[in-house]
Parts: sequence; C-alpha cells; structure tokens
Amino acid sequence: MAIKIAPSILSADFSRMGAAVKMLEDCGADMIHCDVMDGSFVAPITFGAQMVKNIRPWTGLPLDVHLMIEHPKSQIKFFAEAGADIITVHYGACAKISQTYLRETLEEIKSFGVKCGAVVNPDVPVENIFSVFPLCDMVLLMSVFPGYGGQKYIEEVTAKITKARGYACSIGKPNMDIEVDGGVTEANCAEIIKAGANVLVAGSAVFNSPDASVTIAKLRGI
Ligand code: DX5
Ligand code: ZN
Repeated sequence: MAIKIAPSILSADFSRMGAAVKMLEDCGADMIHCDVMDGSFVAPITFGAQMVKNIRPWTGLPLDVHLMIEHPKSQIKFFAEAGADIITVHYGACAKISQTYLRETLEEIKSFGVKCGAVVNPDVPVENIFSVFPLCDMVLLMSVFPGYGGQKYIEEVTAKITKARGYACSIGKPNMDIEVDGGVTEANCAEIIKAGANVLVAGSAVFNSPDASVTIAKLRGI
C-alpha cells in the first residue's frame, strides 16, 4: 500500500502559513494536515475555517482537516466550503452528545462531497468506532493525547493499528486509509507502517528537520 505523509502545519510559523504549505508540497508531502483546536475539547486554540480557506490556493495537495473541537457537526459546512478534502472528527467529542452524533456528523461531511473520518484518542478502544468503519474514508488513531505537537509516541497504539487494519480487511475495505497522529519520527515510522498504517502525520519531525524533503522521504520508507 502506498504510504502517504501528512505534515502537520501546527509546527509551522503561523505568520507565513501559505509559504509553509507550498514548501511542504515542494518537499514531497502527500497531504497537508490541519490541526483545528477550539480551546475546549483541547486546551489550545489554533485556527478555524478561515485558515483553511487562505491556504487553499497555495497547494494542490489534499487538505486533511483534523477537528479537535466540541460540537463538530455545526462547523462542517464552514470547513467544507473553505476547501477541506477530508475532515476527521473525534469519537470523544461526538459520544458525549449522543449515540448517533458521530454517524450524523460523518454523513454531514459526506453530504458536501468531502471525505470523512473518525478519530480515537490513545485511551479509547478502536472497537468503539468499528460501527462507522463502513462510512469512513479514513480512521485516525491518535498516538499522543491531542493538544500539542512534539509529544512522545504512545507504544500501546501500535496494537490498535493492527486491529484497525484487520477489521477494515474483514469488512471488505483492505485499502481504507489508517492515519496515525502524534510522535511519528524517522525512528518509529517503520513499526507504524508494519502494523498497518498508511497515512503518517508528522509535525515536529518535518519542521525541526534541516531538510524536510529528506525527512519526508525517510518517513515514507524510501
Ligand atoms: C496533536 C495534533 C498533531 C500533532 C503532530 O494534537 O493532532 O497533529 O501535533 O505533531 P508531532 O508530529 O510533533 O507529534
Ligand atoms: Zn492532528
């Protein structure tokens, strides 16, 4: 399966975001991972749909919008209209509203012709989102607790990746995108890919690198 590298612009200079996105494309990134934080679901606030709209003209790469926000369904329209190609929403933010809210939100995303995905935190069993796998274009397994870049990969997540790939295969979706987000480095990417992930988010590994194109290639396993 082709490995896709999705650098997170959380680690970029927010005053030069357009140029950062262009640099990532020039360096061989496959997607641009946009970390949206609302100061409530997670403590920090990053940016909203306006940022997605403003970076859209700077790249032809898919914009992978990771919503770390409460009440995500109410924001889908804005991110879809801003030019998101895929939007992922947290199981935890949805489950506290109602049993059906995650499914409704994924359907809302799809209604705009945008790809959708569900996210679980490191301490949430991936089985909790098995019921929406048929609806998802991607599932995102957090390998750090969301909120901050530069944290250490939580090893226990590796077994969840294998479970997620196994379940995707069992329902006839062997090529479903399985994304891993948090603490991905050149040192652990091989283990993550071997476990069954094919989309790797990397913030600090790419932005702290002296040569982003070399790092992106290494993360992809080249
Ligand atoms: C965490 C975000 C990430 C993360 C990636 O809340 O979702 O995308 O910051 O950054 P690194 O690669 O530095 O862990
Ligand atoms: Zn993220």
